[in-house]
Amino acid sequence: MSIVESRLTSDATTFHVEAYEKIDYTLTYVDGVFDPADTHLADIYRPWGRCLMVIDDVVDDLYGERARAYFAAHDIELVTYRLVVDETTKAWTTVEGIVDAFADFGLVRKEQPLVVGGGLGTDVAGFACAAFRRSTPYVRIPTTLIGLIDASVSIKVGVNHRKYKNRLGAYHASSTVLLDFGFLATLPVDQVRNGMAEIIKISTVGDKRTFDLMDAHGEALLATHFGHVDGEVDGRWHAASSELREVAHEITYRAIQRMLELEVPNLHELDLDRVIAFGHTWSPTLELAPDVPFFHGHAICIDMALSTTLAEQRGHVTAEERDRVLSLMSRIGLSLDSEHLTPELLERSTAAILQTRDGRLRAAVPAPVGECVFLDDVSADELVSALDKHRTLVAELPRGGAGVQAFVDEGLSA
Ligand SMILES: NC(=O)c1ccc[n+]([C@@H]2O[C@H](COP(=O)([O-])OP(=O)(O)OC[C@H]3O[C@@H](n4cnc5c(N)ncnc54)[C@H](O)[C@@H]3O)[C@@H](O)[C@H]2O)c1
Ligand SMILES: [Zn+2]
Repeated sequence: MSIVESRLTSDATTFHVEAYEKIDYTLTYVDGVFDPADTHLADIYRPWGRCLMVIDDVVDDLYGERARAYFAAHDIELVTYRLVVDETTKAWTTVEGIVDAFADFGLVRKEQPLVVGGGLGTDVAGFACAAFRRSTPYVRIPTTLIGLIDASVSIKVGVNHRKYKNRLGAYHASSTVLLDFGFLATLPVDQVRNGMAEIIKISTVGDKRTFDLMDAHGEALLATHFGHVDGEVDGRWHAASSELREVAHEITYRAIQRMLELEVPNLHELDLDRVIAFGHTWSPTLELAPDVPFFHGHAICIDMALSTTLAEQRGHVTAEERDRVLSLMSRIGLSLDSEHLTPELLERSTAAILQTRDGRLRAAVPAPVGECVFLDDVSADELVSALDKHRTLVAELPRGGAGVQAFVDEGLSA
């Protein structure tokens, strides 16, 4: 980020400053980011002759050797800081550890740490970069589906504070994001499912074509990690064909493009009516409500499912459209309901989101599928009646609307 335009005016009693900061970042597809033949990373770090890599510990176990071989092949010194973090330690203390690593490395101004990991790691390390010397540039390599299609597309970074999601944070774009979907081959299936929730989000309110593709290929995409490995879901075997890989590419490309189209005019979220906040109205409170938090994708899916039921009650989508959305969520194994979704939680989370959204609810709902309206005037009574109806609907679905591996510890032990 740099200031590209500024103006100073003054009179006898006042100085007035107007300045505009430039946000400038690139997302580039790479096929094999640690393949020595690919020079994207080496080109960035060659001028420094060295690189400090902050990497999720699990990703380091899987890809660390490849990363070290890559930098060695390019004659660039690599120092690794292993980041051990989960949703309960996505906190300021973890940021402090990263900042200490920057200092130990002797990071010079404008030198860019390399951040490798899922949305958790890139959020926390990105926040460390935002805070270190007020602003330190950085490069991101997302390694989860959420990271690839959402967290690293966004310029938001941050940590949780007490029970509040992302309460401390910053808008701090990485200068470069290298998108290598090959990382999905090793991503546990529960994490693939988790990421699919964000694609359901953007497509249900923003892109009908992507929704239709997800509806047609959802289970196969889940089983094959978006066309990267053969796999099974619900007893059905799916092969990672090149056709499926093409579908996967179209979906993820369109999801990223749609998100950028919607967000780029509003990077600092001054306009609080945000399409991509579908599913993020009541879920921030819900996600951390259980002793063991929900996976982000499951928490937002419960919110999206309820919002879709509400949208049908309001006449914004037909009952068939609503059922298509709920069925897709259910077939993928995402959560549509939870015992934690109570009238009391809805009241508490409404109060919290009203503060974040300047006193208005601005709940994004589909109208129809592929498009969006914002609801401000949802009373507590209407919400409870939507919840009652929702509960009746999802009771008919497999697992009564409960998700598969919906909680963080289930995923960690999987
Ligand atoms: N900044 C944003 O705009 C934004 C957007 C969406 C989500 N988020 C945040 O992202 C976080 C969730 O991120 P996430 O879903 O990516 O989870 P995550 O970063 O916790 O990763 C999930 C798990 O997968 C492991 N992992 C990562 N890559 C792997 C790979 N290639 N192979 C095998 N294992 C791998 C990790 O070690 C971890 O155990 C939440 O904290 C959420 O708030 C931020
Ligand atoms: Zn999200």
